Amino acid sequence: MHEHNRKKLFELFQPSADALIYLKGGTVLHRYNTDFEYSFRQESNFMYLTGVKEPDFQLIMDIKDQTWHLVLPRRDSKFAVWMGYVHPPEYYKETFGPDSVLFEDQLELVFSRRSPETVYCLGDETADVLRGFNLTANTDTLPEALAYCRSIKSEAELEHLRIASKIAGEAHIIAMKAAGAAGFEYEVKAAYEYHTKRNGLLHEPYSGIFASGANSAILHYVENNRAIPKNSHFLIDAGTEVEGYAADITRTFPVSGRFENPLSDLYDIVLKAIRETISGARPGVKMEDLQLHACRVILDGLKGLGLVHGRIEDMMEINLFALFFPHGLGHFLGLDTHDVGGYLKGVEPIDRPGLRFLRARRTLEKGMVITIEPGLYMIPALLEPAFKDKTNKPFLNESKLRKLLGFGGIRIEDNLVITETGYENMTPVPKSRERIEEVMAG
Ligand code: GLY
Ligand code: MN
Ligand code: MN
Repeated sequence: MHEHNRKKLFELFQPSADALIYLKGGTVLHRYNTDFEYSFRQESNFMYLTGVKEPDFQLIMDIKDQTWHLVLPRRDSKFAVWMGYVHPPEYYKETFGPDSVLFEDQLELVFSRRSPETVYCLGDETADVLRGFNLTANTDTLPEALAYCRSIKSEAELEHLRIASKIAGEAHIIAMKAAGAAGFEYEVKAAYEYHTKRNGLLHEPYSGIFASGANSAILHYVENNRAIPKNSHFLIDAGTEVEGYAADITRTFPVSGRFENPLSDLYDIVLKAIRETISGARPGVKMEDLQLHACRVILDGLKGLGLVHGRIEDMMEINLFALFFPHGLGHFLGLDTHDVGGYLKGVEPIDRPGLRFLRARRTLEKGMVITIEPGLYMIPALLEPAFKDKTNKPFLNESKLRKLLGFGGIRIEDNLVITETGYENMTPVPKSRERIEEVMAG
């Protein structure tokens, strides 16, 4: 897989160009208290090109002769005492198959012998290293090139993404079932993580959201520590990571296991929005058009419940949808949860509420992996000012909406691969009210 990835990157450059690519891998992060280090997770571009899961490595790719070279940290016997290993260079040569391995203190020698016209790197830190060796660093090209490569997934990458979605999906079902007997949000999180971790998947691709009641309208709620109100509903937005590849799934369900109003009616609106946008996903379709469609479905649903009134087109015109659905419809998914490649060079976010948070303003192509995640929230911080705003006010049924201010929110999120003619939905978690009730009833 990583060999294929390197080849894909090499192919973007003139084969005989007198140039190198130079990347630094990740380093260990520590917390602000003693004796705690975060479990190491490789930097995504480095992972994409090498598969090396250890900290402090570097990479040189030589465009002129299409070779690649792994730069190892110089580890001493103290490292073996505290960390348990010091592998010899041959280990890395055999495991990862580079054309050569060298130590970081030999970089100077390499750069003095092989002094190319250009060295492509990702950012200021590596550029500074290169300037220290009197080399010309180019930081413009490589980020774009890697984003281009990573935005279309190979079959091997898709396999990792499918497994991540499968195991995260199982964990969602387990956590859903655990929610009924749980007193606190973190109990549901523990049930979720018990499943992912016992499958050997130790990394979270993002901070999971385990939100009950009104907390479900907090878009980045990560405290996950409050008591679950009786008869409330619950939102889980959580994934897992397989060989660095992420799943990112959201489900919303009643803690009691039985949908009742107002949850049922509002849930059906989001369900319609995700079903219709998923069925519209195929090559040639623009993500922003899918988002606009979801916005219309949400406004139409709210109108059907008498929560807003007026012509849908007039509401679209003033972006009324963003009061209820203030985030983007989705993003690319891969080695990063919000994966690279969502915006081509020169493309800016749409200057419109809600839509400006769309993280992939792309026309869909086969091999792209995206999330679709419409939501509907009752957010006091948005609705209170809107009740007083002369543009929004005429469309809002204030007295009905006020009754829902403590309701929270609903989001449903699936992970799709774009195929030749449509999509493959990798997310194996039920979405319909009936199926969720069945699952929760055991
Ligand atoms: N959980 C992050 C997201 O859905 O984008
Ligand atoms: Mn998510
Ligand atoms: Mn997402």
